[in-house]
Amino acid sequence: MLGGKNILLGITGGIAAYKTTFLVRLLIKAGAQVKVVLTESASSFVSPLTLATLSKNEVVSSFIKESNDTLNWNNHVELGLWADLMLIAPATANTMSKMANGTCDNVLLATYLSAKCPVFYAPAMDLDMYKHPSTIASFEKLNSFENIMIPATSGELASGLHGEGRMAEPEDMVAFMKRYISKGLPLSGKRVLITAGPTYEAIDPVRFIGNHSTGLMGYELAKEAARLGASVILISGPSYLTVEHDHIDLVSVVSADQMFDAAHKHFDNVDIAICAAAVADYRPEVIADQKIKKSESKLTINLVKNKDILFSLGEIKKKQFLVGFALETENEIENAKGKLKKKNLDAIVLNSLNDSGAGFGTPTNKITFIDKNSKITAFDLKSKAAVAVDIFTEITGRINA
Ligand code: CTP
Repeated sequence: MLGGKNILLGITGGIAAYKTTFLVRLLIKAGAQVKVVLTESASSFVSPLTLATLSKNEVVSSFIKESNDTLNWNNHVELGLWADLMLIAPATANTMSKMANGTCDNVLLATYLSAKCPVFYAPAMDLDMYKHPSTIASFEKLNSFENIMIPATSGELASGLHGEGRMAEPEDMVAFMKRYISKGLPLSGKRVLITAGPTYEAIDPVRFIGNHSTGLMGYELAKEAARLGASVILISGPSYLTVEHDHIDLVSVVSADQMFDAAHKHFDNVDIAICAAAVADYRPEVIADQKIKKSESKLTINLVKNKDILFSLGEIKKKQFLVGFALETENEIENAKGKLKKKNLDAIVLNSLNDSGAGFGTPTNKITFIDKNSKITAFDLKSKAAVAVDIFTEITGRINA
């Protein structure tokens, strides 16, 4: 959610400022770029050098900056416009009152007034200050500016008193902002299941039948669904790929049977399911307990058919939007339409082996999206990440129609 976002952290002078070092680390870990602007009194509580080191950016604490014996100014307008999100934490009663009234006597406030992005603030103060009508008036005014409060919690305060006024913990602030961002997204609140990668069907303890699928298409679909706000269950066969995203649950499986079980375990609770895995159609009838010796001149392995996961999901589907893939070499559109109907799908993504750069084992794909009303949309050859965007544009256009 926060990956790639420019986050401007404004720190004001309260004891909770010491927690902002953890906050910066969490934001950086979430993939955000972080810049810090702090008031003079904040720098008594937390060191600008620590913040600069953690954020990997210069810290701004005054209008004037001294560099190489020349005087320059810190451009608060540029800084405000750079931000995709601004978070003021801790927000003291003093700074909130100034924000509410347009007072602009330090660089943090000038930056706040210049920022056009959503502004979050996390109040921190003693319990009686938190309840004071003047503080409540500041909250109301900031609320009317559409600034977003990350409420203080109850607990032990620096004064030794116990009550409301403790700044939200860094983890909770990050979670709060992520929830806020995901709310406006097209797949927010939706759950998406994706199968990806090959399956390996064991012959004996060291050998298997597999295929060249890398899983890339499925992983890109998972990332795109998460970017659009969905919670994703990614059921993956063996793959060198990894994915780290708060909204993607990776379920690793090996065989088609395991993938079948995992898909059925989650299917009831999802809104969209996309089967992008290259599931082995057959598996050895018997898995040898011991490594098979090369004693015979010929070896025959009997194969039995695996269950078709996509077909089985089509049989039990209720509200889910179900999407399959088809890799065809001839009569592509007709064959894909036939699969769509046979497997009771809402749409099918067709790859033609006649298109170079399409299919599995390549970083690119060229697809045709066909829905159950036979609406056909053909796309150019592009990276699998870009293909994932196209596929979800087609899906969200239909489920949100
Ligand atoms: N699929 C599945 N379980 C299987 C086989 C396939 O879920 N045991 C899914 C794939 O993930 C894909 C679609 O079904 O979404 C592919 O359908 P399939 O009929 O297997 O297509 P092809 O592999 O192209 O099959 P065929 O060789 O029979 O044309």
